[in-house]
Amino acid sequence: MALSFEGRVALVTGSGGGLGREYALAFAERGASVVVNDLGADTKGGGKSSAAADKVVEEIRAKGGKAVANYDSVEDGEKVIQSALDAFGRIDIVVNNAGILRDRSFARTSDLDWDLIHRVHLRGSFSVTRAAWNHMKNQTFGRIIMTTSAAGIYGNFGQANYSAAKLGLLGLANTLAIEGLRYNIRCNTIAPVAGSRLTETVMTPELVASLKPEYIAPMVLWLCHEQCQENGALFEAGAGWIGKLRWERSQGSIVRQKNQPMTPEAVRDQWDKICDFTDATKPKSIQESLLSVVSVLSGLDSDGAVGATPTAAAALASGVNPAEAVGQKLPPSTFVFTPAQCILYALGVGMSTKDPDHLRFLYEGHEDFSCLPTFGVIPSQAAMMDGGLSTIPGLNIDFTQVLHGEQYLELYKPLPTSGTLTSEATIADVLDKGSGAVILLDVKTYSGDELICFNQFSVFVVGAGGFGGRRTSKSARAAVPPPKRAPDAVVIDSTTRDQAALYRLSGDWNPLHIDPSFAAMGGFKAPILHGLCSFGFAARHVLKQFAGNDPSRFKAIKVRFAKPVMPGQSLQTEMWKDGNRIHLQCKVKETDAVVLAGAYVDLHGVSEASLETLTQHGALQSELVFAEIGRRIKDSGSELVKKVNAVFAWEITKDSQSAAEWTMDLKNGSGSLHKGPCGGKADVTITVSDEDFMEVVQGRLNPQKAFFSGKLKVRGNIMLSQKLEVILKDHAKL
Ligand code: NAI
Repeated sequence: MALSFEGRVALVTGSGGGLGREYALAFAERGASVVVNDLGADTKGGGKSSAAADKVVEEIRAKGGKAVANYDSVEDGEKVIQSALDAFGRIDIVVNNAGILRDRSFARTSDLDWDLIHRVHLRGSFSVTRAAWNHMKNQTFGRIIMTTSAAGIYGNFGQANYSAAKLGLLGLANTLAIEGLRYNIRCNTIAPVAGSRLTETVMTPELVASLKPEYIAPMVLWLCHEQCQENGALFEAGAGWIGKLRWERSQGSIVRQKNQPMTPEAVRDQWDKICDFTDATKPKSIQESLLSVVSVLSGLDSDGAVGATPTAAAALASGVNPAEAVGQKLPPSTFVFTPAQCILYALGVGMSTKDPDHLRFLYEGHEDFSCLPTFGVIPSQAAMMDGGLSTIPGLNIDFTQVLHGEQYLELYKPLPTSGTLTSEATIADVLDKGSGAVILLDVKTYSGDELICFNQFSVFVVGAGGFGGRRTSKSARAAVPPPKRAPDAVVIDSTTRDQAALYRLSGDWNPLHIDPSFAAMGGFKAPILHGLCSFGFAARHVLKQFAGNDPSRFKAIKVRFAKPVMPGQSLQTEMWKDGNRIHLQCKVKETDAVVLAGAYVDLHGVSEASLETLTQHGALQSELVFAEIGRRIKDSGSELVKKVNAVFAWEITKDSQSAAEWTMDLKNGSGSLHKGPCGGKADVTITVSDEDFMEVVQGRLNPQKAFFSGKLKVRGNIMLSQKLEVILKDHAKL
């Protein structure tokens, strides 16, 4: 598809002639609104005229394009950018192209020759770009071009001032590429070769005529297009050829011996090796560059002789310093939502009106309308989405290399279905896993002063390890492997082709999940499903299977993201019940690959919220406990029959009156529980008040003590009361 710049505003400095004019015409032809900036100076920076810019604007308008002229010097960057804002309301693209020459042999270069060149090229590009920067940041889009020259890259006789300023622009671009990354601002540098008034003094007229400026413009347009993710790169181009440059570094040689002084003789003797490019490396970042330097220290100075310890030096080189980062807080974030967000989220994690049980999460008019518990990750991730991590000192990392490793979520009460939530995120720890760093981010989410939920994000940063930090952390909520036996329940559910397209609307806008070219850059064949989407699927499978879709039963979830899922694949959630903990593992059914590992959901045995409601309505609290025991007998009754081998009859009293009877048969078949009298079959009958029963199951009253104090009466085989703890065991944690 043709590259369009419709809706974009492009500024090309020095576009009254030469290369700049070509760029301006090309941008306008493809729909951009263009600011044609030119001071109208002579090649040495003298004089001033509005004619050059006006002429180009006229040319663009004559062809039906949109353009305005600006005659300020690039040294007044604010004014230049203001004219873009005044005319078109925004600025998307800045091509720093304006330039002059004051060539002299070095000995004859005056202060003025030096300063003028630096003012126009280096300071001018700085001034214009800085004025555009915050606009680009706020709109999370920007494309910047710096124009260097072969004279800067390789040096050229008589151009000391120009070479220095031009290569200064490459340094500027390299840093802007890093600082702009998280705002989708890309900055690249070009070294063009073209016939223009600047080159007509050094090239033959034939060469000037054949090296046309229009052979450079297409590269500039591509680098400035939203589809192009190239960043921090350097290109040479001319005559229709384009090539990319990078740094190369020899393996080098260590010329210092442990505990020996370093000498110039040793340097001389190793010189050939130092300069030998066999097996050269190509460092891409300051971290990569420094790391190989400081790794020498661990070999030579493990006794600390050089002052910096290898680990401290490695931390410095890798850009990760836990001592500085841990305990730092991210700027607080606010999340405002209505039932629409809860419903959108439920749809995003695969809920459907096909299942009547799902209606309570999909219809705001439903009498039990609720928010899915795993929606609790959504308000908290806002803190991270805003690029908050990059503001933390001691975390100078490449944010393109970040992977979501693990997630823990705990709810302190069921989530509201609308309102305003605020989240506070703290760096809980930074771990060194060798191949990368793991950042543990603890996020507490509040409604007013009330703590609603806690999230721990484990973020893996590829290539940021090796800073000499700890491998494990006390603060980490660990993943737990599932039991070895076959799962107690398995649910298979398909995701749709548009699952990621739908899920992202809940707030994770990472293009990795929608944009094929972005996914390809990450090494994926197609956009992948959000890990937190599979997480939502698995959690609701557990909630349905083991908690009757009652969100108040949900306490916490932990998962490790093991492999990606492609939208359209089926998820197979395998579950193991272990008391109130449901271990789970999620696989892609089509490939059998484990995608969520070491995962579990913790449920409340009986929700305290339901207890409260029940008591308010005068109902028995013990009802819920018996219901849970009933479920447990269904799941693992034969085991209990083996351990207990008796029939228990229960008489529950309320206000000294008999209020309910239960028969618990843990002797015959695989066990059973029913409400009602036992018909004389009981081996033991226990009478207890509803309140004391709850005290016992909540572990606040020991059954023996209850017996001796007369709160719990036992008739029949008194010895069997010792088995009470086995029967009620799972509720002691309530
Ligand atoms: P050019 O002289 O045709 O264009 C430069 C334009 O910048 C002129 O229209 C001039 O009026 C304008 N300008 C100068 N000072 C200004 C200021 N303070 N504020 C605003 N505008 C100002 O030259 P050409 O060849 O098109 O060069 C464009 C850029 O490419 C320059 O940065 C140059 O250093 C660079 N370059 C060009 C090469 C070539 O082969 N043409 C080789 C390497 C680099």
